[in-house]
Parts: sequence; structure tokens; C-alpha cells
Amino acid sequence: MGFLQTAIQYFWREESPFVLVFTLCLAFLLFTFLKNDQKSVRNTLIFFIACQLLAIISGLFHAMQFTFAALVFHEAAITGAGIAVIRLCGLLAFRIVLPMIRLQPPRITEDIFVIMAYLFWFLVRLRFAGLDLGSIVATSAMITAVVAFAMQDTLGNILGGLALQLDNSIEIGDWIKVDDVVGRIVDIRWRSTLVETRNWETVVFPNSQLMKNKFQVLGRRTGQPVQLRRWIWFDVSLNTTPRQIIRAVEDTIMLADISNVAKFPQPNCVLMEIDKGVSRYALRYWLTDLAVDDPTDAAVRWHVYTALERAGIQLEVEKQSVHLIKENEKYEGVVHQREAQQRVKTLRRVELFAQMTDEELSGLAERLKFAQFAKGNIISRQGAIAHWLYIIINGEAEVYLEAPNGERRSVNILSKGSFFGEMGMMTGEPRSASVIAITDVECYRLDKEAFAVIMQARPSLAEDITHILVERRAQLDSVMHHLDEQTRSQEKSSQRNELLVSIKRFFGL
Ligand code: CMP
Repeated sequence: MGFLQTAIQYFWREESPFVLVFTLCLAFLLFTFLKNDQKSVRNTLIFFIACQLLAIISGLFHAMQFTFAALVFHEAAITGAGIAVIRLCGLLAFRIVLPMIRLQPPRITEDIFVIMAYLFWFLVRLRFAGLDLGSIVATSAMITAVVAFAMQDTLGNILGGLALQLDNSIEIGDWIKVDDVVGRIVDIRWRSTLVETRNWETVVFPNSQLMKNKFQVLGRRTGQPVQLRRWIWFDVSLNTTPRQIIRAVEDTIMLADISNVAKFPQPNCVLMEIDKGVSRYALRYWLTDLAVDDPTDAAVRWHVYTALERAGIQLEVEKQSVHLIKENEKYEGVVHQREAQQRVKTLRRVELFAQMTDEELSGLAERLKFAQFAKGNIISRQGAIAHWLYIIINGEAEVYLEAPNGERRSVNILSKGSFFGEMGMMTGEPRSASVIAITDVECYRLDKEAFAVIMQARPSLAEDITHILVERRAQLDSVMHHLDEQTRSQEKSSQRNELLVSIKRFFGL
């Protein structure tokens, strides 16, 4: 047998091609899919290739009759190659397969499994080499005791990390509060737990600290979704009763569609304190995404403010900061006139009032009430009794239908200059659709009485409105029943007559 042949036969075994192909494919797969861990895959592969070189060297030694050296090199090569394969399998299992089935075990679990696999492999190789496992275990227990004594603190952290993992007291993604630090857990490592704060800091907590001291897991309650109660404070003068205030705020917030505000438990408003002539209220709501606490607070605060404003309730300001402006009657008159002119200008842009004279518009302007709605507010709710006609002066609102199963179907988007609420106002029927503010919306509102006065002054308005109303009703129906164009136009003429009669009857025309 030639020198080379002897060498090759020594290191190239039956299973070698399989191990080689398997490892290369695995490394290729990991390299492609694990963009963040490419360095670690590359290093492991280099280590594997080094072990293969070691195996070749062992073959050469064998051919040169250095039997003992060949044996040692060969054993080292196999053990090393096994370690590299275990590492790659660990990466595959913990960073590709488990995340695919939505499991995100912390890094520490991966490390434990991989180290245990290394130890197992090491013992298997030692057994093959003919060593007695019993004495190995006894020796390693001795070594462990010595090491444990020397590294008490580190081991405390490590065991802390393990305990935190095993008792499920915290998980990656949990929001925790330790002293004055609030943040989300991004990793639980051997020695420490990493917490990212909203200010883009990463705080490193030694695991033993989390084990020994109290900390809060925010928004977590057994069997419930993760959500945290937030408090929005506001002060109102004692002139308004708590019932009025609580109802104005709760009604609005419960109906509003505000991102990251939980539907259940429902938000609630409570009178928390009465002091120095001021009543202090808190609106409590449950935040579903703990990362956006301040922006959601701000949105809810704005809803509270606009709800109070629409109900004619003013927020109380601190007594010291009240500024008095001396306004004489002339000044007031000028302000009023300017406001009235502005209203007439706005009304002229509304298609419904296009035919009205300046005088009629001024009369109408006098009766308008200003109301603003925060983004997400339901301005009018399908099925509710109609009290107002709304004219949008700024912002956009969406008209939508709500099916009995809760499904929403958009009907139309209304913007500056459009009006809505005419159907309920004029027919006396409940609101045909819901209207939600999709931006902050500023409106003028007109109550039924004021509107009736205008209708009586100009009966032709009823026909104009009926025209727009019929168009809108057809569109509503089409969304509701998916009516085709032809059926819609057939229905239009008959509907118009019916509606006109019902409108005229309603207003006693
Ligand atoms: P009302 O039924 O009082 O309340 C809901 C309002 O949505 C309704 O009056 C109309 O003003 C408005 N609306 C209904 N359908 C449409 C539509 N197709 N286009 C625009 N607005 C509509």
C-alpha cells in the first residue's frame, strides 16, 4: 500500500463524505438566512475546516508510523468537528426553526442546550477512547466545586439568569420597572438582563439584582392581555356637576377610536379631589402598546379637552395665572361681527346653502355652534337619534356603515365645506350611518329648531336637500346591499318623492 493511500484510509472513513456535505449545506443555509450571525457561522466553519486539516495531518502521521501522534490528532479532529456541527445545529434550531414556529427562547437557553450537547459529545469521545466514565464524573465534580467557590458572584448571576428563565417571572418583550428605570427586556443573558428604555438607552441589570430585589412587570395580569392603566388628569371648576363632566368625557372616549386604547376594560372618569374651589378629575384608560405611552396620553387628553369644550365645560386654570382682558362693548361688537362674517363665508362654500341670500346666511350664522372633534372621535353614531346637522369647516370625516357582525364598510369621505347629518335631521329617522373624524375636525353645528326656521323661510331648500340626500342614500344602499347601477337609478325617482313627502311632513311644510 502506498504512503498516500495509507494516510487517506486512516482519516477518510465511511461517514466522512456525509458529515462533510451535511456541514457545508448547513453552513450555507445559515449563512443565507441568518444575516446577523454570519460572522459566527463563518468562524464555526473555519474551525470545522481546521479540524479536517488536523484529520489529514493525523493520516500523514499514521503513514509515517507515528501511531500515538496520529491517534491524538485524529481524536482532536473528530471532537472538534463534532463541536462545530453541534454549534451549527444549535444555530439552526434556535435562530431559524423555533422563531418560525413563533418561539423566541432567550439566548441563555440556546447556550445551555449547546453546552450540554458539547459535554455529551465530549463524554462519548472519551468513552470511545477507552476512559472510565465514573472517574471522569468524580473528577469533574471536584473541579466544579473548586470553580464554584472561586466564582461565587458570577455563578450567582448565572443561576439568577437560569432561575428567572425557569420560573417565567420575566420574558423577552416584557416591560419592567426597576427603581426609576422603565423599559422592555430585549435579552436575558448568562450574567445580565438587557432592558431598552424609551429614551434609546440599554440598561444592563445583573441577574442577581433582579433575583434579590423587587421589580414590576408592567401591564401583565394573569389570563389577561398586556395593557397598562394610565391616568389623564384635568381640573374643572366646581360650577359643573361631576355627573355632567363624567358623562361628557366617558361618552366620548368610549365611542372614540383611538389607537392603543383598550376597549376592555373601558376607560372611566372619576372625581379624585376637591381642593381650593377646583375639582380634580382623572380619566383612566388601558394602554395596549406600552411603547407609545406619551403619544397615546396626548391623543386621549385632546379627546377629553374637545369633549369638555363641546359640552360647554371649561378647564380650570390656576387662579394665579388668570389674565383679565378689559373688553368694552365696542370691542366685543367688532369681534362678533368678524366671527359672523367668517361664518357667512364658510356657509357660502357649502353646497346645501348655495342658493341662499346674504341675509339668510347671516341669520343662519347666528345660530351656528362651534364644535371640534379629535381624530378618532365618532361624531355621529349609526342608529342614534339625530340632534344636529354638521358643517365641516376643517378636517376630514369618514361616513361608514356598521354591519350587525361588527364589520365596517366605508361609504364616503367628507371634507371641508361638506355637511352631514341631514338625513336624521330632516326625516326624523335614526342616524343612517356613523361618521368618524379621520383627522382633527372643526365643525359648525345646527340644531333642529334652527334648521326648521331656515327651511320654513326657504322651502325650496327641502327639494335641494332631498336631491343630495337621495344621491347619498343610494350610495349608502349600494354599499349595504351591493346594488347594481340600474337598480339604483330605478329606485332613485320613487325614493325622491317618498322622501320629499316625509321631509315636508316632518317640518310641517
Ligand atoms: P344621518 O343619517 O343623519 O347620519 C349619518 C350621515 O351620514 C347622514 O345623515 C348623511 O349626512 C351622511 N351620509 C350618509 N350617506 C352618505 C353618503 N353616501 N355620502 C356622504 N354622506 C353620507
